[in-house]
Amino acid sequence: MAGPSTEVIDGTKAETKALDARSVSQRISLKPVRGGASQSLRHESGILHVSGAATYIDDLPEPKGLLHLAPGLSTRAHARILSIDLGAVRAASGVVLVLTTKDIPGHNDVSPVGKHDEPLLAEDIVSYHGQMIFAVVAETRAQARAAVRLAKIGYEDLPAILDVAQARAAGSEVVWRSLTMSRGDAESALRKAPRRVSGSLSVGGQEHFYLEGQAAMAMPGENREMCVWSSTQHPTETQLMIAHVLDCPSALVTVEVRRMGGGFGGKETQANGPACLAALAASITGRATKLRLDRDDDMTITGKRHDFVIDYNVGFDDEGRIHAVDMVLAARCGWSADLSGPVTDRALFHADNAYYYPDVRLRSEPLKTNTQSNTAYRGFGGPQGIVGAERLIEEIAYATGFDPLDVRLCNTYETGTDRDLTPYHMNVEDSIAADIMKALAEDCGYRKRREDIRVFNTKSRFIKRGIALTPVKFGIAFTATHYNQAGALVHVYTDGSVQVNHGGCEMGQGLHTKMVQVVMREFALEADRVRITATNTGKVPNTSATAASSGADLNGMAVLDAVIKIKTRLVTFAAEHWSVPEDHIAFTPEGVQAGETLIPFSDLIKAAYFARISLSSNGFYKTPKIHWNPDTGRGRPFLYFAYGAACSEVAVDTLTGEMCIERVDILHDAGQSLNPAIDIGQIEGAFVQGAGWLTTEELVWDSAGRLRTHAPSTYKIPGCSDRPRIFNVRLLDNAPNQEETIFRSKAVGEPPFVHGLSVLHAISDAIASLDDYRSCPRLDAPATPETILRCAEHLRSIAADRVATGTT
Ligand code: MTE
Ligand code: MOS
Repeated sequence: MAGPSTEVIDGTKAETKALDARSVSQRISLKPVRGGASQSLRHESGILHVSGAATYIDDLPEPKGLLHLAPGLSTRAHARILSIDLGAVRAASGVVLVLTTKDIPGHNDVSPVGKHDEPLLAEDIVSYHGQMIFAVVAETRAQARAAVRLAKIGYEDLPAILDVAQARAAGSEVVWRSLTMSRGDAESALRKAPRRVSGSLSVGGQEHFYLEGQAAMAMPGENREMCVWSSTQHPTETQLMIAHVLDCPSALVTVEVRRMGGGFGGKETQANGPACLAALAASITGRATKLRLDRDDDMTITGKRHDFVIDYNVGFDDEGRIHAVDMVLAARCGWSADLSGPVTDRALFHADNAYYYPDVRLRSEPLKTNTQSNTAYRGFGGPQGIVGAERLIEEIAYATGFDPLDVRLCNTYETGTDRDLTPYHMNVEDSIAADIMKALAEDCGYRKRREDIRVFNTKSRFIKRGIALTPVKFGIAFTATHYNQAGALVHVYTDGSVQVNHGGCEMGQGLHTKMVQVVMREFALEADRVRITATNTGKVPNTSATAASSGADLNGMAVLDAVIKIKTRLVTFAAEHWSVPEDHIAFTPEGVQAGETLIPFSDLIKAAYFARISLSSNGFYKTPKIHWNPDTGRGRPFLYFAYGAACSEVAVDTLTGEMCIERVDILHDAGQSLNPAIDIGQIEGAFVQGAGWLTTEELVWDSAGRLRTHAPSTYKIPGCSDRPRIFNVRLLDNAPNQEETIFRSKAVGEPPFVHGLSVLHAISDAIASLDDYRSCPRLDAPATPETILRCAEHLRSIAADRVATGTT
């Protein structure tokens, strides 16, 4: 039988030619690479992805007698359930079972933070339009979906609160404690500051739009065992939730995930519901059960990126230096807490971006609303906080007349001075934001292009160009300290091949490839000798979500720990066996060197096996140095920061509001990159996703709380043609992490998402030309054509007033 690994190797050659011929990419070496970390090794599933052979939940071979599940959803935003008539549903063709709260043997609760505010199925009250009330289990997916529509549910409407403004007006409760961070005395410093500006901005939410929707398949085993394949970023939590719902020990539940077709934070908690329903149906029927949400249902049911309203007050001087900042960051959290507490905390942690605020007060308002429960999304609130920081910069730039870049440069943290303390009292020990901005500005000709654009804009009546260069400083580590741990399991088999397993999940980001590279580097093996297998709670237990960009940081060190344990045993054995000192043993690409003798790796392993040396080990890692106390608002929540800067140039049609990204240059700090090709891919993807968030992606709810943008027909993610016309991405050279991370790399999953912000500011710069750069456009996000047009009209009217009143 041709095993999967043979297919990969055979497929490699053919695929390499095809890609070369189309010259898809110049920078990725498609040749097999030896030597592991810091090499541009191809994604371990790349060939499977492009050939369609990679299996996602719905591609798994279907077990005999598989049942299918479809959820029945609330059609009210907030209501008391008066009656549920499921007679016609039960009688429908193919229906085997209809699940309601009464069928739950354990707890009707999937709150990931132990707040018990999130029932799996609604009981008496529905809290948003789209909440799951019941679920149909049928012989086919089509039958389940058809039967769902036959339900008759009687409601008594209750007052619904849909957004931040309504929540504030109604004095709505918070889903989590409001956090305040402060240093110095912001109020009096604001009063004393030579100049002051205050304002408000709104920044929209974002649908995850993972290509593979939420999906799970459950298979009952003997004696109450349950095996669940889930598209989850957090297999351990999914396991715990299933056990909680089924009222059984966690040890009976195994959750496995080979890969997700994207997660982006949307499967950190929100994969639990589908997995629990599938497991519940499987446990009752004794048959395997699958749930794959329809795209519209997925968008209707699941939470998104939090949208924020940010009120700000900034004091500064004539040089553009910030004296004091007071900001309130209010978020639409939805009907339950989910991760809104840590998300709004992280917004505060990033409301400084790369800038030092001498006196500062930041406060979060995590507001409860009758909408989807908003959740993790790439950056986890950080990008929203940074949008606030960059608005301050823009306000100061227009107030003083300085180039925004100069305002940025004169306010960045300065390590080793008294200007290196964050609002949460952590010293910034590695501030390189200014250096990166300067290097990028030089590299992409920012100053000259900015001047040229201004000349262009005086000559072009309707098409206006704009340019902006924005930095990112992003904190790396989970702010929940206990999450910063990881485990791994490495087996060496007697043929010298290695199987590696760890607690992280692959969602396209290349984590598994990087983990393979760690093993390759330590054992000096080729990629085809190292096999990574599905993440499985039975192999590595008690893991953290693959999130907060820390997948490689945490699991890389755990894998390294496991490998080093095996290596240490092998070295001791080889030294004895070949009678050489231990320091004369070296793992080289040619084989294992024991003094003068060169032994093929597989021969060493065989010899070690016969000598009864254990060839398997677990590994463990916990992040050092970090601590954080939300009660005092002080600590060192992050091990280090990842930095970068982006420069975007756009052209805006000020008659239609249409916009086009002409050129983007990015310089990003991935430390000593574990895999430059994958990291550049992460940066490109993150930029595009970030730009989409701030420009075309708009979520719209109607006055009844119904999400009207629930499919690609109404929700516009960036397409191929929206990519920048010129797109240069570079990694910072010679920039090893000063902290002891895995091979001195830096996390790269989320930080570059923030680079999309340069597009928003470039659009703003283009619009500002309409009033000769004298007023801050205060462009809200998303800057859709409608928003751009409204903003342009506003600036035109300001300019017209100036002419009319003679205040030019
Ligand atoms: N890249 C791809 N292709 N698909 C994804 O779902 N998720 C992002 C980022 N990059 C994601 C991605 C998010 S939200 C995070 S937190 C990190 O990957 C998680 O993986 P890492 O910690 O291994 O970087
Ligand atoms: Mo990423 S939002 O931390 O899953």
